[in-house]
Amino acid sequence: MKVVLAYSGGLDTSVCIKLLQEKYKAEVITVTCDVGQHEDLDEAGEKAKKLGVKKHLLLDVKEELAQEYLFKAVKANALYEDYYPLHSALHRYLIVKKVVEIAKQEKAEAVAHGNTGLGNDQMRYDITFKAFAPELKVLAPIREMNLTREQEIDYCIKKGIPVNRPKDKPYSIDENLWGCFVGDYGDAEDPTKDTPEDIFRTVVRNPKGKESLFITIDFESGVPIGINGQRMTGVELIQKIRDLVGGYGYGWVDFTEDTVVGTKIRQTYESPAAFTLIKAHLDLEKLVLTKRELTFKHFIDKRWAELIFDGLWVEPLRSDLESFIEETQKVVTGSVKIMLLPNMIMPVSRTSPNSLYIKKLTSYGPESGVRQIMGQHFTELWGAGSIVAYQIRKEKNEKPK
Ligand code: ARG
Repeated sequence: MKVVLAYSGGLDTSVCIKLLQEKYKAEVITVTCDVGQHEDLDEAGEKAKKLGVKKHLLLDVKEELAQEYLFKAVKANALYEDYYPLHSALHRYLIVKKVVEIAKQEKAEAVAHGNTGLGNDQMRYDITFKAFAPELKVLAPIREMNLTREQEIDYCIKKGIPVNRPKDKPYSIDENLWGCFVGDYGDAEDPTKDTPEDIFRTVVRNPKGKESLFITIDFESGVPIGINGQRMTGVELIQKIRDLVGGYGYGWVDFTEDTVVGTKIRQTYESPAAFTLIKAHLDLEKLVLTKRELTFKHFIDKRWAELIFDGLWVEPLRSDLESFIEETQKVVTGSVKIMLLPNMIMPVSRTSPNSLYIKKLTSYGPESGVRQIMGQHFTELWGAGSIVAYQIRKEKNEKPK
């Protein structure tokens, strides 16, 4: 049997190579996607070859990730439960797409992933694989054999698989351009314990000697396209903002997350670029979308983020929601100026050719074009229904809420 494995070079997927060869008698092809992780991917490839894979492919998918996934998330201001920028969830769907393409080229019978039966990622892989390629078997050896991390490490030692995680601190690391997760172990898993000091990779915990700095982020139809008027690729832009803002100590979050099934898990993320771009994008939307569009879109955005989190990339509701989101983004063009200070960022001004700000409608100064009597008349009608209800309930001694 020929199997294409989504291979990161980490513990789980390295164990999978050997398990697929030994227990499933499979010929293994490994696919590693460069999604902007701070890992030595050539080393990961060397390791796969040493473990006897038939073929190994390294794909640079960073720009596709930025344009087709991360910038969709910007348009949707996507923060699951208001905190998590979905970096881990989003790139799984791209990895599945790539693994399926290779599996078809290689005429493989199955695809495989290294997920356990514990997390959310198994759903993202299984469901998307099945929708994209129902003819392929989906194998998940770690889950099928119910292996614990300690058993995996012992298996590696027995089989001579190099282990890149110390047994006393075996954190999971999951990183891409959009952000980084380090955790799933010890104090990092326990919501009562303070954020561990040693888990950050891109955010400086206590930045020293930083002066305030201003940057302008430019958007075209909801997509970030440049900084300070300078156009750049998605990858350049994300990396630049990540390094700059991370250097200021901004862009991390520590909270109790609800898993797909609704159990509670403590998660710590660093995502300076995601938090900054979403904050800037939302700021621009507030200038160019109407009050009604904004309140309705907020609800749509939240649903979009939940679908991505819940493993349901293929759910038709996602593209239905995206049709609405795309329509709104036609006017989201302009620039947002951000002030960076140690441990915080703040939008301080914004401009757009589609701005809905009309000075004479809201100015308190001499430019005001509103006759104040209009306010009095409008208020009378606007509150009439509520005033009547309040009075009637009061008369009937029903305590008004
Ligand atoms: N809780 C997040 C999610 O479900 C992040 C998971 C991080 N990855 C991991 N292997 N634990 O998307």
